[in-house]
Amino acid sequence: MKPFVYVTRQVPDAIYKRLAAKYDVEMWKEADKAVPREILLDKVSKADALLTVITDVVDEELFSRASSLKVVANMAVGIDNIDLDAASRYGVSICNTPDVLTDTTADLTFTLLLATARRVTEAAEFVKEGKWTSWAPMMLVGTDVHHKKIGIVGMGKIGTAVAKRAAGFDMDILYHNRNRHEVAEEMLGAQYRSLDGLLEEADFIVCLAPLNDDTRGLFQREHFQKMKKEAIFINASRGPIINEQALIEALEAKEIAAAGLDVFDKEPIHTDHPFLTMKNVVSLPHIGSATKETRMAMMRTCCENIEAVIDDGHPRTLVNKEVLHFD
Ligand code: GLV
Repeated sequence: MKPFVYVTRQVPDAIYKRLAAKYDVEMWKEADKAVPREILLDKVSKADALLTVITDVVDEELFSRASSLKVVANMAVGIDNIDLDAASRYGVSICNTPDVLTDTTADLTFTLLLATARRVTEAAEFVKEGKWTSWAPMMLVGTDVHHKKIGIVGMGKIGTAVAKRAAGFDMDILYHNRNRHEVAEEMLGAQYRSLDGLLEEADFIVCLAPLNDDTRGLFQREHFQKMKKEAIFINASRGPIINEQALIEALEAKEIAAAGLDVFDKEPIHTDHPFLTMKNVVSLPHIGSATKETRMAMMRTCCENIEAVIDDGHPRTLVNKEVLHFD
C-alpha cells in the first residue's frame, strides 16, 4: 500500500501530480476555505504525511488521532499553528519553508512601509473615487522614507533582508533581537538597541519577530506611547504579537501617525474592523510571501520534505530536530 498524503488546501496541478506520482494523495479542494476540523482529524488518522497551511491547527489532539503520521510539511516559515513539543513526543517531523520566501516577504514588508508612508492605497482610492480634480501643493502629502531611521524588531533572515532594502534608501538601521547580529552590524551598519531605545528613536518600527511565548502580546499601549508621534508601525510577521486594541487606541489618540499591517489577531478581519475606517492604516490580507515564484517554491519545499521523511531521508528544513532523538 502506498503512503497516504493529505493536502489541506487546494494546490496547483504540478504539486498535486508530483505527490500523486508516488503516494496515495487526497486534497481539500476548496481554495478559499480551511478544511473543517472533523475532516482533518479523520484524514490524519490514516495519513503518513500532511501538507498544511497556517490556518490548520496542528495540536496534541490531532497527533493523538494519528497512527502512522511521520511528517507535517507546513507551507510557511512560521510554525505557530503547530504544537512542536507534542509533535516531537509523537515522533512527527515538522518542516517549514524558510529561505525560499525571505526576499519576497522582505519586498512586501518594504512595499507596505512605502505604501503607508506615501499614502499609496489612499491615493489610488482617491483617483478611483473621482476626487482628483487638480494638483495641489499639499494634496495627499506623505512622509519621506529615505534618510529616516528604521527600527527592525526581529532581525532574522527576513529582518536582515528588510535592512538591506532600507540601506538602499539611505536609512539608518536600528534593530532589536534576542541575539546580536554581527553580520548585519558589519555589512549594513545596523545598530543594536533595547526594545525601548528602538521604539523611542525609530521613525519606522517594523515587526518581523516570530510568534512564540516570548513575543505574544509584545506590543502593548505603553510601547506605542514610547514611539514618536510621527512614527509609522509596520507588522508583517504575526498579528498576536500586537495587542490590536492597544494599536487602535494609539492610532485614535494620535500617539503614532500610521500603521501598515499584513497580519492581524484574527484573520481574515471583518469588514467592520476599525482599521478599515482609518485612512492612515494600510491593511493587507497576509500576502507577505504571495508571489507565483515563491508560493511554488514553498510547495516544492513541502514536497521535498515529505519525500525525504517518507523515504527515510533527511528533510532539509526540519524544525523540531529533537524528533530525531525520540524513538
Ligand atoms: C507566512 O506567514 C509564513 O509564515 O510563511
